[in-house]
Amino acid sequence: MHRAGRLEKGMDEEAARYTSSLEFDREILEAVIYINMAHVRLLERVGVLSEQEAREAVALLGKLLESPPMLDRHEFEDIHMVVEDWLSRRSPRVGSMLALGKSRNDAVVAAIKLRLKQRVAQLHESIDELCATLLKQAEREAETIFPVYTHLQRAAPATFGFILHGYATRLLKLYPHLRLVYELCDESPLGSAAVAGTSVPLDREYAAQLLGFGKISDNALEATASRDFIIESISLTLLVALILSSLAEELVLYSSEEFSLLELPDELSATSSIMPQKKNPVVAEITRTKVWEVLGLLSTALGIAARQPSGYSLDLQQITPKLWKALDETVSALRLTTKMIENLSINTARSAEACKPPTGIVEVANHLTLNYGVPFRKAHNLAGRLSRLISEGKLTPETFQQTLQEAGVSVGITLEDALQLMEPRRVIHGYKTRGSANPQYVKTAVKQAFQELERQREWFLERRRKMENALATLREAE
Ligand code: ARG
Repeated sequence: MHRAGRLEKGMDEEAARYTSSLEFDREILEAVIYINMAHVRLLERVGVLSEQEAREAVALLGKLLESPPMLDRHEFEDIHMVVEDWLSRRSPRVGSMLALGKSRNDAVVAAIKLRLKQRVAQLHESIDELCATLLKQAEREAETIFPVYTHLQRAAPATFGFILHGYATRLLKLYPHLRLVYELCDESPLGSAAVAGTSVPLDREYAAQLLGFGKISDNALEATASRDFIIESISLTLLVALILSSLAEELVLYSSEEFSLLELPDELSATSSIMPQKKNPVVAEITRTKVWEVLGLLSTALGIAARQPSGYSLDLQQITPKLWKALDETVSALRLTTKMIENLSINTARSAEACKPPTGIVEVANHLTLNYGVPFRKAHNLAGRLSRLISEGKLTPETFQQTLQEAGVSVGITLEDALQLMEPRRVIHGYKTRGSANPQYVKTAVKQAFQELERQREWFLERRRKMENALATLREAE
């Protein structure tokens, strides 16, 4: 109906379908309805609608919220046109005023931001759950001897709890980014209209307040056509996916028969249709791919955003579904990773075995240096020789003493002393630095991380409440 003035012909059906965003507008349906409620209230303030007209229109839109329309009529370019058409049929005068001072360009950004705030809060919840699970298990397994690797070679005795706390620490470092994304979305573009603002004296602060936005945008051109906040959001999901991918990779490796350090839960594994003995870590495998999938979405979004002059072009519409997809992928990967961590079991005999000498042999060198003043390079050389003997099964009291002599280390240490120094439990409890795998430090760090999680929860809860209260007030205003 808005075409008829300028264009003589209706749109080619295939072209209409081709250019419509209806297919993926379902995600912002509710948000668009709320934005129209707010706009009706703004028009009431301007004096274009009467108080009664506004009230009735808000009530009608409330009905639309409760029973959302089918989004299958592709003669509509997008959800904004569907809502305007729906209201126009029920309240022709209000419907005819709905686009006064409001463009789809500012409305769509407002809707994406409103919805994205909810989705970021949901993303926070899934990250929070995984973090809490990692920390809970880290505490439980803080004494469970487990090797850590560098270059995928056994490097040092540590604990499984230490590894889990490491992943929780990585996730916790995303919180400032998570909050940044929320704040970028907490800005109302309404009143920007299509590109340069409007001569309709809309109260922008009032609009922001009605929808629970914390502030209003500073420039109409930027507000309507920048999708930087979407790039920032997908980048965040990419970082989450990166962490989940390396964790998944680690689970696949450690659960393989060759490592045999972990057993993944049956309910998250599959078997082979031809090789009956197999237990395939399929959930971890799919999780490992998420980083590529999200990277694909990010590069598509970036590519589209980069080829844009400053004002709105329809290209921008194609970015939005990449955002929702990135969030979907990341949230499901988070949930399934949480299940894997909750339900995996550790082959403790095997993990302790992997920490036996020579894994902790640097402790012999450290001991000789710290207690006898042996130069560390010399002590390191001796330990290297000893580790070769251990690997070859040739370490005896005799070969031990002989190696000491060969390495030019003349201190009174017996093979038994050396073996004790390398005993895994003694090694991990002997770590002195904060941040080490010493169970005592890990337990303290886990406690602090739990407190940090709690603080972050409060931050999100407060924002969530603010938004939900605003929307409830808008919806229910008599
Ligand atoms: N469907 C569009 C989007 O998602 C809404 C804005 C369309 N604006 C326009 N002038 N055609 O970005």
